[in-house]
Amino acid sequence: MKPHENALKLLNSWDANAQQWFEAVRDSAIESRRLVTNQAILDAITAQSPKRLLDVGCGEGWLMRALCEHMGEKAPEMLGVDGSQWLIDRLNALGGRGVCVTYESLIETPHPSLQQGDFDLVVANFSLLADHCVELLQALRPCLTPEGKLLVQTVHPHSVSPSAREGWREEHFESFSGNWQAMPWYFRDREGWLEVMTASGFTVESVKEPRHPHTDQPISLLMTAAC
Ligand SMILES: C[S@@+](CC[C@H](N)C(=O)[O-])C[C@H]1O[C@@H](n2cnc3c(N)ncnc32)[C@H](O)[C@@H]1O
Repeated sequence: MKPHENALKLLNSWDANAQQWFEAVRDSAIESRRLVTNQAILDAITAQSPKRLLDVGCGEGWLMRALCEHMGEKAPEMLGVDGSQWLIDRLNALGGRGVCVTYESLIETPHPSLQQGDFDLVVANFSLLADHCVELLQALRPCLTPEGKLLVQTVHPHSVSPSAREGWREEHFESFSGNWQAMPWYFRDREGWLEVMTASGFTVESVKEPRHPHTDQPISLLMTAAC
């Protein structure tokens, strides 16, 4: 699949920003993750008691390491996929198991590391950032067991604006320190996300809206869907 110009810029921005992203995650520099969304995704995964988990757009793999701590012996077998070689190298150096592969190539051809019916949970934590989510989720669906679940956590639409319309936007990482390359990303409202899940063949079972403990603002949409 030939990526849309914005999707290509998006992917390239993760190469350019990889080290700064790694440091921001390592140093818990992102307040919304520290206070709200990290725990929300860990709890949502734990509630599913997965045996084999695929982390899509896993970055440097903090989620898999955090799950090992959070779930101890009950932690699932885990594999991460991400388009940034730099981040995958960090993940593997830190003891995780990750493969560098872009969403575009997953859409095009099934990857040998992702066998049919191999996973009972697929997780995408703030990693579905382009406009080809339906194609990607359709490509990933066969990797799940028939009872498998999909968990997607994404930016809450209200954190952009309650009236924002679906479309490409640009993130300039203004609240982050350092020199970041701007990242195009595709904004969807709640309805748009529910349409993505349905159009990909999933049945949405729950939508949570974790809130900031001090401001009470919804921070993310956390969707659980069945195959
Ligand atoms: C905001 S980070 C989230 C990382 C991780 N899930 C986490 O929670 O820390 C988004 C991740 O999606 C990956 N990504 C974005 N577009 C991609 C694409 N087209 N193919 C593969 N990975 C992509 C980036 O490399 C990056 O690691």
